[in-house]
Order: sequence, then C-alpha cells, then structure tokens
Amino acid sequence: MEESAAKKKLFSAVQPSGSVTIGNYIGAIRNFAKLQDEYECIYAVADLHAITVRQEAAQLRRNTLELMALFIACGINPEKCVLFVQSHVPAHCELTWVLNTIAYPGELSRMTQFKDKSAKHAENVNMGLMDYPVLMASDILLYQAALVPVGADQKQHLELTRDLAIRFNNRYGATFTVPDGYIPKDSGARVMSLADPSKKMSKSDENPNGFVTMSDDKDTVIRKFKRAVTDSDSVIRYAPEEKPGVSNLLTIYHAFTGKSIAEAEKEFEGKGYGDFKLAVGEAVADALAPIQAERAKLLADKAYLNGIMQRGAESAARMARRTLSKVYRKVGFYSGE
Ligand code: TYM
Repeated sequence: MEESAAKKKLFSAVQPSGSVTIGNYIGAIRNFAKLQDEYECIYAVADLHAITVRQEAAQLRRNTLELMALFIACGINPEKCVLFVQSHVPAHCELTWVLNTIAYPGELSRMTQFKDKSAKHAENVNMGLMDYPVLMASDILLYQAALVPVGADQKQHLELTRDLAIRFNNRYGATFTVPDGYIPKDSGARVMSLADPSKKMSKSDENPNGFVTMSDDKDTVIRKFKRAVTDSDSVIRYAPEEKPGVSNLLTIYHAFTGKSIAEAEKEFEGKGYGDFKLAVGEAVADALAPIQAERAKLLADKAYLNGIMQRGAESAARMARRTLSKVYRKVGFYSGE
C-alpha cells in the first residue's frame, strides 16, 4: 500500500469505436502493460468520446466489452491497474462542465482532429466533437495523472490538457497535476495506412486494406500486408521521407518482433518486397494469435469482465471524487459546510 502511495499516476483511454488497429496497439496499448509496474495505472474505455461520431448502440455496447477484454489480453493486469468504462464514472462529465468555462471556442476549433473529423462527418458537426479535448482533459486531470501514454496524433490534445490545468491552477490555486505525454520516440508513434503510407492508419478508414485490426485472422493479415503499398525501388531500407511504405512496414515488424530496425534491414538485405511483406504479415499474425485466443477466452466469461468493470468504476469514482470535490470547493459551489 505504501509503495503504491509513492507511485505516480498514469491515465490513458481508447475509444470503443470500431475495431482496434495495430496502430492503436503499437502507439498506445502495448505501452499500457509495460508501464503498469512503475506507475499506478488507470485505463478507460472512452465510450463518452466515441459518441461524438455516430455509433450504432448495440455495436457500441459490444465494442466496449471487447475492448475491455482486449486490454487484459494485451497484458494489462486488472489486479494491478484500474480498468473501467468512462460513462460509469459521472465525474468525467461533471469536471468537463467546469473546464468548459475556462476553455475557449477559438482554441478548440483550431484542433487538427476537430477539423479533420468535421470535414469527414460534415453532416454531424456537433458540440461534443468540438468539446472532445475538454472531456479528454477531464479524464486525465481527475486522476492527477503525471503521465499519459498515447500516439503522436494526441499530442495537441495533451498540450491543451496542460494549458487547461495551468489556467485553472493559476485562476483558482494549485489543483491539478500538469501531465506529460508518453509518446513512442520512434515511428511507432504514428503507424501509417498500408494502402496509403502518407496517411495515419485509422480504424475509420473506408478502405479496410489500409488497416489491420487486432482481431483479423492470419489469412486476412497476410493478404493486407501482401497488398501494402511500397515503392518502385526494391531496397528494404528505413527512410520515412523517401520510402514511407517500406519504413512503415519495418516499424511494424520491429514492434511485433522486438528486432531492431537495423537487424530487420540486415535480415531482408537482397530480398524482394514480396518476401518482405509476407514476413511482416506472418510476424504480425503470429504475435496477434495468442492475444486473440486470450481475448476470446475472456469474452466467454462476461461475468468476470463485468466484475472488473464494476470494481474499476468504483475505484475510479473514489479517486475522481477527491479531485472533483476540490474543484467544486475552489470554484465556490456550496456544499453545506
Ligand atoms: P483512439 O481510440 O482514437 O486511439 C487510441 C490510441 O491509439 C493511438 N493511435 C495511434 N498510434 C500510432 N499510430 C496510429 N496510426 C494510431 N492511431 C491511433 C492514439 O494516439 C491513442 O493513444 N482521444 C483518445 C482516447 C482518449 C484518451 C483520453 C487518451 C480519451 N480520453 C485520455 C489519453 C488520455 C484517442 O485518440 O483514442
């Protein structure tokens, strides 16, 4: 107990919108388990964020359960970490309201993700989409997290979180820990689409050949890698500017095998792209197989997963309540005392 009191807190979350890709895994989820001994970790399924774009209700429920199982299958130990569903802890929405009063529409409308998603979902540019980063700041600040493992695309949202924390602390006195990001230093922070290596790999890509999901079977994985766009050269060398497709495949290979990029370049020296793509596909499929088996086992025991979510929500709510009470006191909400 004493040891955990000394540990710094860490928070991250993943949206249960569509299938989780190997980009989500390489950029974020694989670091979740790695950090669980060093930090007091809190991980959420961000369903409140997910509804900022249209979701089918039954599918969202299913995705939530599947993502919880995936977290555990990827090595997150529910005995060590707090695992919960964001909508189960009302404090996230409550803090969002307060932070909304210090967040400016100008800064929110400048967020790259807001602009991208507004263009992509022109028929549904809603307030939630614009407020997405304030909800994300609330997630992080409620737990006084010092560290936030995410992919590079979330860097701007983290900056905003830091700005809001500092702004609130300046106005009302020290309340929030100002968090740092934990973003992979290598190109794993931004895994690119297999179909168009100038674009980020995304679960919402209309072209299913652009992304590999954590539940794709071996044949699908290999087929997608075989089709991966490379270049007209035939040298397997890491050079993200010049050879974005090949470099992306090397990054993925490195992430799933643990071999360094230099080792991988050496391994494929003199080989053709066909052999290379097949080897990457096989390495990914082989690494996914045990995760998929574990996830299936967990999904067969819904009561177990429900129990974890319930306990997780209770612990998270307790921690969140402490920060929220402090915030309410600072802003002057009457509490009868
Ligand atoms: P989501 O579900 O869109 O993405 C989950 C995580 O995956 C990372 N990621 C990638 N990393 C590398 N390459 C890619 N192609 C790639 N695509 C996605 C994302 O950076 C993210 O870390 N807004 C968050 C969810 C969230 C959150 C939070 C995160 C809600 N509240 C609080 C941290 C703290 C998101 O982008 O989810």
